[in-house]
Amino acid sequence: MIDNFWLAIAFLVGGIFSFLLTSSIWQRRQQRLREQLVETVRFATAVMRRSVTLAKSDTCYRTGSRQRAKRQQIEGELTSKLKECDRQLLAIDRELQSELALRQLADAKQQESETNFRYLVETVKDYAIYLLDPQGYIVTWNAGAERIKGYTAEEIIGQHFSRFYVDEDIECGHPDYELILTEAQGRYEEEGWRLRKDGSVFWANVVTISRRDRDGSLKGFCRVIHDVTMRKQAEIEIRNALAQEKELNELKSRFISMTSHEFRTPLATILSSAELLEYYADKLPPAEKSELFGQIGTATKRMTELLEDVLAIEKAESGKLQFNPATLDLEKFCQNLVSEMQLTAGNKHQIFFTNFGDCKNVFMDEKLLRHILSNLLSNAMKYSPQGGIVKFDLDCNDREAIFQIQDSGIGIPLEDQAKLFESFHRGRNVGNISGTGLGLFIVKTMVDLHKGKISVNSQVGFGTTFTAIVPCKF
Ligand SMILES: Nc1ncnc2c1ncn2[C@@H]1O[C@H](COP(=O)(O)OP(=O)(O)O)[C@@H](O)[C@H]1O
Ligand SMILES: [Mg+2]
Repeated sequence: MIDNFWLAIAFLVGGIFSFLLTSSIWQRRQQRLREQLVETVRFATAVMRRSVTLAKSDTCYRTGSRQRAKRQQIEGELTSKLKECDRQLLAIDRELQSELALRQLADAKQQESETNFRYLVETVKDYAIYLLDPQGYIVTWNAGAERIKGYTAEEIIGQHFSRFYVDEDIECGHPDYELILTEAQGRYEEEGWRLRKDGSVFWANVVTISRRDRDGSLKGFCRVIHDVTMRKQAEIEIRNALAQEKELNELKSRFISMTSHEFRTPLATILSSAELLEYYADKLPPAEKSELFGQIGTATKRMTELLEDVLAIEKAESGKLQFNPATLDLEKFCQNLVSEMQLTAGNKHQIFFTNFGDCKNVFMDEKLLRHILSNLLSNAMKYSPQGGIVKFDLDCNDREAIFQIQDSGIGIPLEDQAKLFESFHRGRNVGNISGTGLGLFIVKTMVDLHKGKISVNSQVGFGTTFTAIVPCKF
């Protein structure tokens, strides 16, 4: 019987220890364990009482008075130990109850704060906040994500997050790369283009954070995305404006150096011709004199043309160049222009003008047209240094006038043809033929103002044909 007693004690003590141990591991089961413990203690107490009673009666009948006294002493010690144990258990019970109450309060508070946090995350509209599982499949979706990306939670939960990436990013495996990096370093941030449901793109600031269990195993990822397209656009605009300004500055300095060089040549001609005329006026034969006067005239004309080019460009760049079409006898206009140009060209070049259509009554801007044709005709002569014929054909139909100017001069290398209409671009075969590279730029600007088209067909050593097709009846 006494064995039962020790068994009960062991059971009781084991029960207390196992409770304390388990209570720290499974806090939520504390209440149930506490009840179990109280029951266990009661059971153990009853067992001990019974054991003591039985041991007492045993001793009365079978043992002597000395042993009985000894038994009584043990009984007394056991009873007091039992009482002490009972008291301690009650104290532990009280302690556990108050701890339990505190934990319940803390749990309630934590639950409330989790609810608040979830509410905050779910309702925030400026940021897309969502969770991914370790493989990148979407687990949660907030209002901000719906607003920014256009998908509802029902549509997107369970889908892989790579669907927000543009094709180039998918091709180079960027979504997986982001997750690998986040897993390795805990947090990864970047900016890039992302896709919305409707296929449009936005510039996103993306922060990815890894989520781990207490044991360190990966639970998934949390993603926070902010649409910063406006900021990106502002950046792009500023960068473009800076690039434009840089380009403009470069253009200005090229313009200044080119034009000053182009002015210096005719000015030198004028100066030397004037000096010769001043010092040798009496001795020079009339033919030489008139040649010198002719050189002064040509140089002055060259400078005037140059100034006109500069002014035209300035007007075009500042948007002051206006398109003012009026009724015009185009055939007559071209004939007059050809005569004018033939006069200054001398007899080294002959301009042959042919009209193939009914061009007497068109609606065009005469000023702009003059810029176009005089530039094309003077180029045709300038780049035919050996002299020769320049063919100028005109044709008109109901809608447009077609101008074709053909020479058999030096031609234009293929590599230069694409850039010919850009300012300052000159063919690599011009040699010492002077020029600024501005004429065709002006021609193109004027043709554009007429909503027309210009093209070139040329072969080095054989000649060049420029064709301008300009709408003329509106
Ligand atoms: N008829 C042409 N024949 C050969 N090259 C030409 C002809 N017209 C234009 N070009 C080429 O196009 C370039 C640009 O012409 P343009 O803008 O008028 O400038 P510029 O005549 O002042 O050099 C010229 O430098 C020349 O290389
Ligand atoms: Mg020119």
